Amino acid sequence: SEVFLPHGAEVQHLDDPGDSGVGKSCIVLRFVRGQFDPTSKVTVGASFLSQTIALQDSTTVKFEIWDTAGQERYAALAPLYYRGAGVAVIVYDITSPESFTKAQYWVKELQKHGSPGIVMALVGNKADLQEKREVPVQDGIDYAEKNGMFFIETSAKTADNINQLFEVFLR
Ligand code: GTP
Ligand code: MG
Repeated sequence: SEVFLPHGAEVQHLDDPGDSGVGKSCIVLRFVRGQFDPTSKVTVGASFLSQTIALQDSTTVKFEIWDTAGQERYAALAPLYYRGAGVAVIVYDITSPESFTKAQYWVKELQKHGSPGIVMALVGNKADLQEKREVPVQDGIDYAEKNGMFFIETSAKTADNINQLFEVFLR
């Protein structure tokens, strides 16, 4: 696997109501490197990572992943990364209702402007923070079902359901 991290990205996660800080980079890092970085810095532009998975029948699948920047100032870049993508993972933070609302915006955006037939998954991340939960699991399930998406809650911190998230796309 390869990681291209932007230089000089010493920017803190701001109180960006929505996308920044939901844990997109941590999910990808957990999947590709098996690591968790509690001091993960805000993504600038986007990062590209890949991970090759060997299946039981000895074929392999290579995931080519664009980890997009959630800060509002980068929103206009998003189409560069989702255009042509076969799969989109839309992540919110279960402790942040604002991020759940923002996730719904991205679902609509991808329904309108994503590749035809794009497969989408809705992910409620930070599932380890149960005591701070503000988005009921049923809200995620219901919204995903209405929109024909997969749904899963994950924790990049504990690794809970991270491999399962990507296995959904293999199936
Ligand atoms: P942008 O790049 O700005 O869009 O943010 P991002 O969505 O990539 O967020 P990032 O992965 O950098 O995570 C932000 C912070 O959230 C991290 O530094 C972690 O401290 C925390 N975090 C990420 N995933 C989890 C998780 O599963 N559980 C907990 N408790 N914290 C998490
Ligand atoms: Mg990031």
